[in-house]
Formats: sequence, structure tokens, C-alpha cells
Amino acid sequence: MRIIKTKDYNELSLRGARLIAAQILVKPHSILGLATGSSPIGVYENLVAEHQAGILDFSKIRTVNLDEYWGLDPSHDQSYRYFMDFHLFDKVNINKENTRVPNGKASNPQEECEAYSQYIQDIGGIDLQLIGIGSNGHIGFNEPADHFTCGTHVAELTAQTLEDNKRFFPSIDQVPTKAVTMGIREIMQARSVVMVASGKNKAQAVKDSLTGKITPAVPGSILQLHPNFTLVADEEALSLL
Ligand code: F6R
Repeated sequence: MRIIKTKDYNELSLRGARLIAAQILVKPHSILGLATGSSPIGVYENLVAEHQAGILDFSKIRTVNLDEYWGLDPSHDQSYRYFMDFHLFDKVNINKENTRVPNGKASNPQEECEAYSQYIQDIGGIDLQLIGIGSNGHIGFNEPADHFTCGTHVAELTAQTLEDNKRFFPSIDQVPTKAVTMGIREIMQARSVVMVASGKNKAQAVKDSLTGKITPAVPGSILQLHPNFTLVADEEALSLL
């Protein structure tokens, strides 16, 4: 495990983007696993700036996203497909056919989950997975539970996650209560994992994930077992360590 401590969110975004930029430069046809939420927005801004400066070429990159709200159409402005198009895909030279986000409106959720897991395997697995962490320790939407779920699945969001994510919706009643998410197997099989964590409200989850017992009650704790895991976190997120 490697920890990169940054002064603030801006520096975190720069350092996180550099890790991804290095991956793209070393392997232009990389498979990137991507995340949404507030934490990676600055990383994407830096990647877009590097693309615009002529440094980064996304033409051979493929991406798979961690998760998508169940029931939201890709055109919904809070869907994760919309988020990815807005923050990254529409601003770089990536072939959209090479970007995949779970389909939150699939008619058969089981088939969608199996097809998503299979797709990740078929393209050769993830080179670098970018993730955030929930204030309750979730990764992707693998919520605290009494067991780890391996493959892509439909997850029931916890009350804490609904509360945390209501800031993106007009009211808490409109936050979807389920999501399709990569499982722990897909995240752990990524050849490298980069987590970005910012702010005081992540400090407990970061501490529990990094130094606590490895337990499905704190899904992020599984990353202690990952052979190539980097945490990029600001002082506030690291304040309990
Ligand atoms: C998003 C995801 C979630 C978020 C987490 C933190 O694709 O999988 O696990 O990373 O909820 O969200 P923010 O960054 O908004 O605090």
C-alpha cells in the first residue's frame, strides 16, 4: 500500500491525475476502471487539461465504470453515464463505444450484471481502477454487509449512502435506492487501484479501511490485501491516522 498525502483537494486531483496519465502514457491501450461522485471530478479536470495540452491521447483507451444507479436512464442528469460524458468522455478523444457504464435500465438485471462481469474479463481485465470511498466505507456500491459480494450485482443502498447522495437530487425521496455495481472481485482483480479521498467526512472510513480489521462491514478494508493499492488523500481525510 502506498499513501500520497496532499495538502488539499486541488493537489489530490493533480496527483491522482498524474497516476492515470502515467498509466496512459506507458500503455496507450489501457483499460481504465472509473468512478463518479465528487472525489474524482478534479482528477478528470486535470486529465482533460492534459489532453487539451496535447499530452494525453485517449484514442486507444477503454473504460469500465464502477457503478450506475438502478432505474436512471443514461440521459438523466444524475446518471453516472451522464456524469462521465460530461466530466470526461465528451472532452477527450475517446471512442464512446469503448466506454462502458452499467445499464441501470436493463430489463433483466441478472443478465446485465453477468454480461458486465464477462465484458471486463473479455477485454482483459482492468489495468488501473480509480475509486472513491463512501463515508460508511463502501467502495463502488459494495455497502457494509456480513459478506463480500464477488461479481457485479444490484445493491441496496444504505440509509447513510442515501443521506450522503441526496445533495445531488431535489430531495432524498428521489435518490435511487439501488445501484448496479462491480463486485469486490472485479475491484480486487484490477492490476492497480487508486483511491481518492478528500475531506473530514471520509477520515473515519479511511482510517477503518487502512488500519482496521479486514471485514465486509468496512468494504474498503479489503484493499489492504491488494498488491498494488495507492491512496491519494488530503490532510483532512488522513486526519485520524
Ligand atoms: C462512485 C462510487 C462511490 C463513490 C463514493 C464517494 O462511482 O462508486 O463509491 O466513490 O460514494 O462519493 P463522493 O466522491 O461523492 O464522496
